[in-house]
Amino acid sequence: MDVSTREQWMTIAEKTIAAQPRVAEQILSMIKGLSAITDGFSVDQMEHAIQTATRAEREGADEEVIVASLLHDVGKLISVPNHPKIAAEILRPYVREEVYCMVAHHQDFQGRHYYEHLGMNPNLRENHVGQPWYELAEKFADRWDQKAFDPGYDSLPLEHFEPMVRRVFAKAKSI
Ligand SMILES: [Fe+2]
Repeated sequence: MDVSTREQWMTIAEKTIAAQPRVAEQILSMIKGLSAITDGFSVDQMEHAIQTATRAEREGADEEVIVASLLHDVGKLISVPNHPKIAAEILRPYVREEVYCMVAHHQDFQGRHYYEHLGMNPNLRENHVGQPWYELAEKFADRWDQKAFDPGYDSLPLEHFEPMVRRVFAKAKSI
């Protein structure tokens, strides 16, 4: 790199910007990949993702929150224990801070609904009291995420969310 030229970097920047649409396509293919994961739940992880996003949309969430709801567990493709942070970092340049935090900390909020069965503290959300994103994270966990395992729920099709994914991932807001 220390022998590279400004002209070369201009070319790289131009081609990188032109290639940005591949990000959304990769995200969509990861969502489809979630259909291979069920791990004992009553629906597979793709249905869970779509159902969470559908519930968010039906309760008036904005587009960034809907797309984050669709992606919130996509980190499970790689590693379950740290899946919230994986998904949150994928989203980070493309969404506002509170949406990033909603995904990054969602497991602490979700714990209220089942951690007692695993001998874990169900009140980890209390560590986040006072954060500006607390209310959003609470709504996400309690009203959308934890309910989104219903095999009889009339989820919207993934195609409904595809244009939203393409718009949110069209351009990074930050790096
Ligand atoms: Fe979830």
